[in-house]
Amino acid sequence: MANILKVLKGTKDILPQEIDMWHFVEKTADEVFSKYGFKEIRTPIIEVTELFARGVGDTTDIVNKEMYTFEKSDRSITLRPENTAGVVRSYIENGMSRLSSPVKLWYKGPMFRYERPQAGRQRQFHQVGVEMFGIKQPTADAEVILTAVNFLKALGLNDLEVELNSLGCPKCRDEFKNKLKAVLKPYLNDLCEDCQTRYEKNPLRLLDCKVEDCQKIYSKPEIQEVIMSDFLCDECREHYDELKLYLEKMGVKYSENKLLVRGLDYYNRTVFEIKSNNLGSQNAVAGGGRYDGLVGQLGGEPTPAIGFAMGMERLISLLPDRKSKNLDAYIVSNYTTDAFVFAQELREQGVNVEFDLANKKFTKQLEKASKVAKYALILGEDEISKHQVSIKNLEEGKQITVDRADCVKMLEL
Ligand code: HAM
Repeated sequence: MANILKVLKGTKDILPQEIDMWHFVEKTADEVFSKYGFKEIRTPIIEVTELFARGVGDTTDIVNKEMYTFEKSDRSITLRPENTAGVVRSYIENGMSRLSSPVKLWYKGPMFRYERPQAGRQRQFHQVGVEMFGIKQPTADAEVILTAVNFLKALGLNDLEVELNSLGCPKCRDEFKNKLKAVLKPYLNDLCEDCQTRYEKNPLRLLDCKVEDCQKIYSKPEIQEVIMSDFLCDECREHYDELKLYLEKMGVKYSENKLLVRGLDYYNRTVFEIKSNNLGSQNAVAGGGRYDGLVGQLGGEPTPAIGFAMGMERLISLLPDRKSKNLDAYIVSNYTTDAFVFAQELREQGVNVEFDLANKKFTKQLEKASKVAKYALILGEDEISKHQVSIKNLEEGKQITVDRADCVKMLEL
């Protein structure tokens, strides 16, 4: 029998004691992405399954193994496993190609993938991400990577590593795929089952395989020679070189990783990940890249685009704890009606304040105040008769008595 008192495997409650961290990340995302001109977009969590099959790619693990899909009124519907496809759908459906380019969008929200849960990997997780449409030049790639790096900096995360690669365009990549297939052909029967499928359907993803036997084969000199070869055509090479130049000028440190191919099919040219050494095996905080073919492929005007997404749980696990007290002030008083009225006056002036609703003893109220608030606002007999309040700073212990009308001025909020 299902245990109704347990969250589903791979999902988590975000509890009140953790929520400050989430608010901090969301607020910083809004501030930093706005500085770069991105506007927030909120798309539905459910989309037609076909969008992901065609958008993310039907050779990917995400589409083949990890989607939460269900039927409703004869339609196949899927909980979004990522948000690039949904944002592209919205871009096309809402005619955003008519807006002046670039169109810059950012988002936050839950994503769903039926993966084996482990540290850093959940079945419901959250992403913040950006997508930029309309610019084919490498300035867009540089600006998007810079946005990611500066967002991480604003969170206080300075020591993350940017890994960079170029997957080329369909033309030069096809030549590379053919070379890779040719050199691997003699070993085909020794590859794992997944790699045998990838060999046929998506040879680039072979490089991403973690199976030891496959790794051994891929590290053979004749295969390494192909993997490490410079297969980019002149245009892709120029794009990649220009991007690297911008990053260097902007002081973004990066390393190049030829094995970085990413697990989604829509990418061309630039791909990147941002990794942390403090995350164990699931060490990617962010992943992104250019997807110039996707808008056209899904039925829109061909439009170059690039973006990234970051795992919020992974981000938050890297941040120092931010435990803040909930309240600015707690009213300590046995004069309930006065406390009620005063609390409301303070709230109207922007103060976060509570008071005792259960008529507890004065000392108990003071104890509670010191646990939850920065200030205790004391309304005793004296204060009530003179329409005053005693303000006790619970961190420093100092206490002063002032007219109630002057109270808010005296609080350092
Ligand atoms: P992705 O690499 O699949 O890319 O996911 C981006 C980030 O989401 C990862 O680097 C990781 O931090 C987080 N993430 C992914 N799966 C999980 C999981 N099961 N549990 C916890 N965190 C996870 C995308 O989703 C692309 N849409 C990114 C993109 C945007 N490319 C272009 N635009």
